[in-house]
Amino acid sequence: MRTLSILFLLAPIASLAQSGPFAAGLYPVLEKAGCRNCHNDNGVASATRLHFPETDADPSKIEAFGKSLVVLVDREHPDQSLLLRKPTNRIPHTGGLRIKPGTPEETKLLDWIATLTKLSGSELTAALNYREQEDVSATAPINEPELHRLTNSQYNHTIRDLLADQSAPADQFPPEDFLNGFKNQTEGQALSPILIDAYSGAAERLSRTAFHNFESRGGDSHGLIPCKASVPCRTQFVREFGKKAFRRPLTATEQKRYEALMATETDFLKGAQLVVETMLQSPNFLFWMYSTPDPKLEPYAAASRLSYTLWDTMPDAELIQAAEAGALATKQGIEKVARGMLNRPHAHEALDEFTSQWLRFDRLTTASKDRRKYPLYTRETARAMTDEARAFISDLVWNGRDFMTAFTADYGYVSPELASIYAVPAPAKEIERTPFPKGSERSGLLGQGLFLALTAKPDETSPTARGLFVREQFLCQHVPDPPPGVNTNLPPLSADNPQTNRERMSAHATNPTCAGCHKLMDPIGFGFEKFDSVGARRDKLTLEFREPGEGEKGVVKTVSVDLDTNGNIAGIPDSKFTSPADMGPILAKSSQCQECIVKQYFRYSAGRREGPADLPLIRQALQRFQASQFQFKELILAITAMEGTSNVASNYKSR
Ligand code: HEC
Ligand code: HEC
Repeated sequence: MRTLSILFLLAPIASLAQSGPFAAGLYPVLEKAGCRNCHNDNGVASATRLHFPETDADPSKIEAFGKSLVVLVDREHPDQSLLLRKPTNRIPHTGGLRIKPGTPEETKLLDWIATLTKLSGSELTAALNYREQEDVSATAPINEPELHRLTNSQYNHTIRDLLADQSAPADQFPPEDFLNGFKNQTEGQALSPILIDAYSGAAERLSRTAFHNFESRGGDSHGLIPCKASVPCRTQFVREFGKKAFRRPLTATEQKRYEALMATETDFLKGAQLVVETMLQSPNFLFWMYSTPDPKLEPYAAASRLSYTLWDTMPDAELIQAAEAGALATKQGIEKVARGMLNRPHAHEALDEFTSQWLRFDRLTTASKDRRKYPLYTRETARAMTDEARAFISDLVWNGRDFMTAFTADYGYVSPELASIYAVPAPAKEIERTPFPKGSERSGLLGQGLFLALTAKPDETSPTARGLFVREQFLCQHVPDPPPGVNTNLPPLSADNPQTNRERMSAHATNPTCAGCHKLMDPIGFGFEKFDSVGARRDKLTLEFREPGEGEKGVVKTVSVDLDTNGNIAGIPDSKFTSPADMGPILAKSSQCQECIVKQYFRYSAGRREGPADLPLIRQALQRFQASQFQFKELILAITAMEGTSNVASNYKSR
């Protein structure tokens, strides 16, 4: 086994410069109080006027942010300022009491408010225009190619298309972490020693298999060897295979090096096998080019970007030829090619990959449910639930339906396993579009098994987890983790005092330490309480108690309690609801939810979280998505084409 040195991308070292009066005064107080957790672009307070800059913002930006707080100051009556009254909870603040009255922290807050009341002239104008400038100043062009590592799924698809090998070797690779909601985020793509080992093991095996059956296939039915397998064919083999594997022509040096490597074996096939094994471990294979400042390579980067985004696999010969002919040189060109690519079967695979990550299929497939309570729930049920979500989203996208009906549709894709959970007749086919029963109150994804079951515990629901999922997946708002030391077990139940989840969680709403976060999640989840841990409808909550001392087989006392399903989505006006069917239209119509769909696709497509410099792109894509009556294909095209040519945005790296 030969391992080539793998490229490591080093982060630039941030330079420390002198700090100004805000950084020396109030700023650390606010950081310590955790304001940033909610008051950022993706936080639950994203819609307020308080937005923290990046944690590594330079000192001048931090000072500018400090001055921008002037919008939260009442210059006539400083003690009435929101900047004072909100964090001290003198007026109700969703974030709760963050700065205690009478403490040195409050003094620093008052001092800074006093400073802000004195701002005037151009300094005041600049402070009031802070948000506008922020969009532009965050742009930090970099002069390097942007590389993305093959995800496990892309690795499998690439091997399939490069070597005609269907063995899906990456299924054995270490599992990938979710970051920003997806598995393909570049900031999570560091190479671990285990992964490097996995790559070299796979390279050895794949190259062996590629040539092993050579004779029995009548001499290379995979088109790996373009000429008669003999010494003169070496040059052509290296050139053609290399171009496919690296998705660009080899440089003269690379060509020479791989030919020399091949010549170390006298047997042509053994030499070819060695070249394949070595190339499969090269960073040029393992990382694809997303963008590059080199104009000669740009067409190839564009081809890779399109094919890995839209097809989840390497570019085919036709796409490379189109790129070489200049078809991807303009936004219009990219869009035209991309539109054609969406009509090919690989586009469906790529969308399925997006769906499975966005809706966190992994969390259902690894979840377990209480056997005693749900004897009919098996692995096949979980699979039926993910199949349903995949078929549902796929139909919305490829049949040109309004994508926001993902939250309102009155039908599901039902298989025999799901029919009993939904209380509908079992379908004739394996999986069939089926209307939900009247009065079931199910509504698109919100009423389908996947969401209801993956956000529940083995034997009971979790309104917190359901609310959190809606916040993060559908509204793109991040709720910070519970503070250390918080007991996240609900109070135990007893037969004398049977309680609903709402009752058990009442402390979350009344204790101000908990309410700041839990008011954002629990009331969403309460509206789903008529759906149990596997997504079946229940009209009351049935609690089973075992008499003490009777052991496993003890007599079960069953208590039924009424459910109060009043819920609301804090932060969205008029958002009271009592069922998924009630909530669906609220989400579908909310611009936050619509924008979140755009952001989710952006994150998946760009391999990173959006930064301030991407906001114009996101806004334009949202407009086009809305104008097309929510055609997801239009959203894909808008993002793919704009990203391709907007160097500023694609070169901006958020951390
Ligand atoms: C747990 C989340 C959370 C935390 C932490 C938090 N806030 Fe808030 N804050 C919110 C939400 C949500 C709103 C909007 C609703 C409201 O006013 O309650 C808000 C509103 C505000 C507003 C009014 C902004 C406007 O545009 O009117 C100010 C000022 C504010 N917060 C200051 C702070 C400060 C200062 C801190 C830290 C000391 C802080 N917040 C911490 C969630 C939070
Ligand atoms: C900074 C935000 C935050 C604060 C403050 C907070 N929590 Fe939480 N809490 C969360 C999040 C997020 C979850 C979901 C975590 C998860 O599922 O991983 C959670 C989960 C829980 C759960 C589990 C719910 C379930 O369905 O089993 C309980 C219980 C809980 N918190 C209690 C509390 C209590 C009590 C307090 C106050 C003393 C509190 N939390 C304060 C964010 C917070």
